[in-house]
Amino acid sequence: MFPTLSREPLSQSPWFAVEYEPRDHSLWLLDQRALPTEVAYLTLRRPDEAVAAIRDMAVRGAPAIGITAAYALAQQAYLERGAAPAFMLAMGTAGRVLNATRPTAVNLAWAIARMARKAADVAHAPADERAAALLAEAEAIHREDVAACREMGRLGAEDVPDGACILTHCNAGALATGGYGTALGVIRAAHEAGKRVRVLADETRPYLQGARLTSWELHQDGIPVEVITDSTAAHCFQRGEIDFVVVGADRVAKNGDVANKIGTYGVAVLADVHGVPFTVAAPVSTLDFATPSGDLIPLEERSRREVAQVGAQVLVADGIACRHVGFDVTPARLVKALYTERGVVRLAAGEALGSLFPAR
Ligand code: MRU
Repeated sequence: MFPTLSREPLSQSPWFAVEYEPRDHSLWLLDQRALPTEVAYLTLRRPDEAVAAIRDMAVRGAPAIGITAAYALAQQAYLERGAAPAFMLAMGTAGRVLNATRPTAVNLAWAIARMARKAADVAHAPADERAAALLAEAEAIHREDVAACREMGRLGAEDVPDGACILTHCNAGALATGGYGTALGVIRAAHEAGKRVRVLADETRPYLQGARLTSWELHQDGIPVEVITDSTAAHCFQRGEIDFVVVGADRVAKNGDVANKIGTYGVAVLADVHGVPFTVAAPVSTLDFATPSGDLIPLEERSRREVAQVGAQVLVADGIACRHVGFDVTPARLVKALYTERGVVRLAAGEALGSLFPAR
């Protein structure tokens, strides 16, 4: 069921979203389209296969697609043996194609830019040295993401009440990151700290990341979880059943507005109305200081088919339009806390993201 690599997985887990096998330069992805019925790994040997895997959601979640793109660029550096101009051309083209796959998750552009900087640094080195440097950079991105998840998890867990019923939306777990997870990292850390927690996982129409992925992940760790339809959340808030909300993020604008999976904003409004803390966990690679506010975040529009069908089952008759906006934006004023590896920002209380970088 679980794959065997020639070294310990950087994700620090027997199952993982993404790993690189340096022995044969293959990129391993858990095919998330097959979960939960099948745990199957894809073994990718060329960067264009990673492009298709990101676009087609075999791998998804903001940090995980950034790490996948970084490894794909390491693979490109291994495959391109030519002199500096050919190397830079190949790296630039691969970076652009990878970047075009999914527009909202800023971790993708962030990881590609970081790999491009490393490529420029080593462009004139011998091919083997270049490839080793690019792989080391991708591995650093991966390791840092796991460490970030653990640290934000630790910080977030301090706010989780013992005995809490926690609502989460989409999947912001180990499957969406280098390992451990952002929102699910907070839940895992609370559980590991001995707090009794249970989770309500929104199913997250239309792609069902909550039903298929979040419940599977938490079940692997023995954390009690119950899947609810998205429309059940309001009822659970009204009954006073939910004590705490934590979700992930695809991009946080400079003013603290948070883009995350469609439906997140509705959850934040419900939490506000019912006086329940709505919180977000995200690494600093998700912060986008170049985008002033949430209304300027590009929101991915995905295919009609993902709404009109579940698998082969047709839900909406042919010829009828469907809208599939992949993400929405939650205003900073609704976010009680943003947990990052650099610290906590109490956005609703007026704290700014800049507080994480006092020297800036
Ligand atoms: O479309 P997806 O499945 O890539 O969307 C994922 C999310 O919205 C996650 O909440 C977000 O990427 C944070 S992952 C740690």
